Amino acid sequence: MKRLLISGILLTAFLTSCGPKSHAVTGPKYTAAEQLLQGKTVFENSCNKCHMLPDPKKHDDQRWIRTLSRMAPRAKLTDHQHQMVYDYLISEND
Ligand code: HEC
Repeated sequence: MKRLLISGILLTAFLTSCGPKSHAVTGPKYTAAEQLLQGKTVFENSCNKCHMLPDPKKHDDQRWIRTLSRMAPRAKLTDHQHQMVYDYLISEND
């Protein structure tokens, strides 16, 4: 029993130390309509807190990578939300 408990603790420590790492957005990933819609919702709810919603056409794909990497932390987006917003923006900018 004690042995089980210790291995349980070790396993928990192992899992938490190797948790998901932060992945920078470097290109498109979510392209299904449903995900793009979610990206749109996150965008519309998070990106108008400090300024007006920017026009997705404002930047090309490369510039959105740079701009979003500055804005996503400001909007406190998770990596997942960051990626969805990025994919939404570049689906609208052409
Ligand atoms: C906490 C406040 C805040 C939030 C939230 C925020 N922004 Fe911004 N944003 C700023 C400020 C301040 C500037 C002007 C200074 C600068 O460019 O860094 C700016 C500028 C911009 C610009 C113009 C500059 C450029 O490079 O084109 C764009 C586009 C932009 N934000 C997009 C977004 C998007 C998309 C989101 C949502 C993910 C977002 N912002 C969320 C504060 C915010």
